[in-house]
Amino acid sequence: MRVGVLTGGGDCPGLNAVIRSVVRKGVQEYAWEFVGIADGWGGAVKDVTRPLDVAAVRGILPLGGTILGSSRTNPLRIDNGIDRIRGTLRAHGIDALVVIGGEDTLSVASALSDAGVDLVGVPKTIDNDVGGTDYTFGFDTAVGIATEAIDRLHTTAESHKRTLVVEVMGRHSGWIALHAGVAGGANAILIPEVEFDVDRVCAWVESRFEINYAPIVVVAEGAVPRAGQMVVKDESRDEFGHVRLSGIGDWLARELESRTEKEARTTVLGHVQRGGTPSAYDRWLATRFGLHAVDAIRDGAFGTMVALRGTDVVRVPLADVTGTNKLVPNKLYEEFDVFFGT
Ligand code: F6P
Repeated sequence: MRVGVLTGGGDCPGLNAVIRSVVRKGVQEYAWEFVGIADGWGGAVKDVTRPLDVAAVRGILPLGGTILGSSRTNPLRIDNGIDRIRGTLRAHGIDALVVIGGEDTLSVASALSDAGVDLVGVPKTIDNDVGGTDYTFGFDTAVGIATEAIDRLHTTAESHKRTLVVEVMGRHSGWIALHAGVAGGANAILIPEVEFDVDRVCAWVESRFEINYAPIVVVAEGAVPRAGQMVVKDESRDEFGHVRLSGIGDWLARELESRTEKEARTTVLGHVQRGGTPSAYDRWLATRFGLHAVDAIRDGAFGTMVALRGTDVVRVPLADVTGTNKLVPNKLYEEFDVFFGT
């Protein structure tokens, strides 16, 4: 058996841990051979591959990024994209694929699976918004980084009695904002799932100043003000049609400063949340996903994605979990109301 492995979409901590566990189990238990496909679907379309054996995965467990490279190439928007991928698989004698990606990459995997390509998906993203799985790897690391940043911002905010706005990633979902905001003791948390009212945020900021503390406002990059347009710096779109976000934090700090007459500044955490070494939990989850993906291929469970349900890793049909993002339920968000403005 020859198995191709690719990592697609935005990178996230733990990708290398999956690659390592897939290769180690496939080679050591089943004597399979592996082919590394470079740069996600980009390498699959253009036939760019890398050697992938046990030697190639030695030492990569704690490394951030991906040794295979990644891209946001969408083969469904390229002429004969699917046929070109089939050509690459044929040229390398690849029998099956392990596709490690977020919603976009896995939607392509689902289409390819429908077209008869044997593959298994592994969910990744710092955003934790892939459907069908309780958690994705990469999320825990990103939340840890954002929480540390919020802890640091509290002390400087207090020294200067300023409002500090922290913009975190999360285009469609507020999982990072909610978890890091709660863990870091933020005084307001704004997520894409719930339009926010600037007047209400001002009231939270003012009540925090009234008790002689400085407010920390955590805002997900995809959060939008009520009856407002999404605030973006750059209107260009990637191949999956997503606008390049970033701008809501600056906009909000300006609004808060002019409405409350208290100085407000913004910190945009950006790609810092995606870089560097994965947390222990992300290495654990990524390793388990890799082991289970190999077993799914061995069992011929193609067209499925490995997923975490409670503490079990299960298989779910790709077709059932792609096409939408997993959002923060309102009820969960509302659990933390008591901390806002206090
Ligand atoms: O999808 C993961 C993510 O980190 C989002 O939170 C963010 O909006 C996006 O990727 C940024 O992508 P890129 O840096 O690849 O443009």
